Amino acid sequence: MTQELTSPSPAPQAPGTGRGPGWWRDAVIYQVYVRSFADSDGDGVGDLRGARARLPHLKDLGVDAVWLTPFYASPQADGGYDVADYRAVDPLFGSLQDADDLIRTAHDLGLRVIVDIVPNHTSDRHPWFQDPELARERYLFRPGKGENGELPPNDWESVFGGPAWTRTDRGDWYLHLFAPEQPDLNWDNPEVHAEFEAILRFWLDLGVDGFRVDVAHGMVKAPGLPDIGHGQQAKLIGNQVLPFFDQDGVHTIHRAWRRLLDGYGEAHGKQVVGVAEAWAPTAERLALYVRPDELHQAFNFQFLNAPWEAGALREVIDASLAATTSVGAPTTWVLSNHDVVRHTTRLGGGLDRARAATLLMLALPGSAYLYQGEELGLPEVTDLPDEVRQDPAFFRGGRTAGAAATSGQNGFRDGCRVPLPWSGELPPYGFGDGGSWLPQPGDWAALTVEAQTGDPASTLELYRTALALRHRLPGLGDGEMSWAPAPDGVLAFTRPGVLCAVNTLGHDVELPPPGALLLASAPVTGNGAAAVLPGDSCTWWAI
Ligand code: NOJ
Repeated sequence: MTQELTSPSPAPQAPGTGRGPGWWRDAVIYQVYVRSFADSDGDGVGDLRGARARLPHLKDLGVDAVWLTPFYASPQADGGYDVADYRAVDPLFGSLQDADDLIRTAHDLGLRVIVDIVPNHTSDRHPWFQDPELARERYLFRPGKGENGELPPNDWESVFGGPAWTRTDRGDWYLHLFAPEQPDLNWDNPEVHAEFEAILRFWLDLGVDGFRVDVAHGMVKAPGLPDIGHGQQAKLIGNQVLPFFDQDGVHTIHRAWRRLLDGYGEAHGKQVVGVAEAWAPTAERLALYVRPDELHQAFNFQFLNAPWEAGALREVIDASLAATTSVGAPTTWVLSNHDVVRHTTRLGGGLDRARAATLLMLALPGSAYLYQGEELGLPEVTDLPDEVRQDPAFFRGGRTAGAAATSGQNGFRDGCRVPLPWSGELPPYGFGDGGSWLPQPGDWAALTVEAQTGDPASTLELYRTALALRHRLPGLGDGEMSWAPAPDGVLAFTRPGVLCAVNTLGHDVELPPPGALLLASAPVTGNGAAAVLPGDSCTWWAI
């Protein structure tokens, strides 16, 4: 049967209408998970020099900026999200000079650099936590309940499983929403504010263009630290209403940081951005983090968590755009990161669906984050042996599939952190000279950057073409979109001059061609009168 895809309504607005300036509004930002990107010294762990040497790959890919995950001094209890010194580079990853070199090289290539800032907690090896006097004021210590204080102060559970409280030798308890090695800071203490503002300035002086704010919704807890009462564990990416997440008080911190970033930017002739890793129960609550006087971006995890189903996708896209538009911010799309199952695997449709989802994301208005390796179509590695795993969620979550489901609704996180394959036929596929900290599958030779380069059917070339088109076509990136009529199971929307059609069904759908084909995630067949969109595909058309 021939389905009809007619012209769009209502007419889309011209790109850029009514929006403020800002490079981030339509930027594509590539997440480098440093320990798994490229290893320069053969210790099996990626590092800053390795990342710097591979920056040309990102330039060729066509991204606008790079986000580097934490490379600061850390005992690595949680992949570096347990920071012991916010102004030092961990020797595992290099030196401050290496960070400086990387930032300079990125800028020379025209790439901006965003670094992670981890303000909700430090490492338990941080000097503040090591000093009992300082610790008492700068972290969240409470007496225990029970006759002898032997019970935790409340019923909160750690995101990684188990109680969110650990008892000290002194008999009191401290809060850690994540691992016990990650004590939560007390943001009622002005010294904590002052220290983080100084840390932001330190990295700004080194030339960074922005910060990804870890757990941006967590620094302020409900007064009195009330019980949750229903025994529900927090999810790593969840949307529960909880007394330790998304409290209104966090916005005061973000406003202060925005003033700092804007002030620094104005003084140095640049635009410095903050992107919130915030888990809010609704799109409206999330939009509060990107009000004009707060952070610039917030990852849209509701989109990331949406199932591959036309109605659900349309709903989440509409809700996200409505919420961010109401505060004048762009939407920030993301499909994969170092905490979730890679979307090649998560969406349940292999590479076809992943490639289609990516083209959908890149056609939507706003900015997008890519996670290293998705441009190669890497799948989640699901068969890592337990003895190589390092994710604290695995160790604290009971090591079972059931626990995986609660430790972050997407399960344990090592499977998306396997080092990248760059070249060659065998592991470590050019990652470095000394193996890799997590074993790479033996069948990744066809997925390397080298193998995919120049192959027009490869996922790498699809990403390169898509990003080049995003830059070339003024209708993509920031701006308006309008839904176009489409048969059930197909999403169609227009941007100025472009129509994007997504067939979420498992079978072909036939349509009158909406224009000239610009890009397709899977081969489109047909003739002048009918175009056949394969199942699980996304196509961009010039209209
Ligand atoms: C979010 C980070 O992305 C994740 O990797 C980390 O475990 C938690 N925040 C705690 O810092």
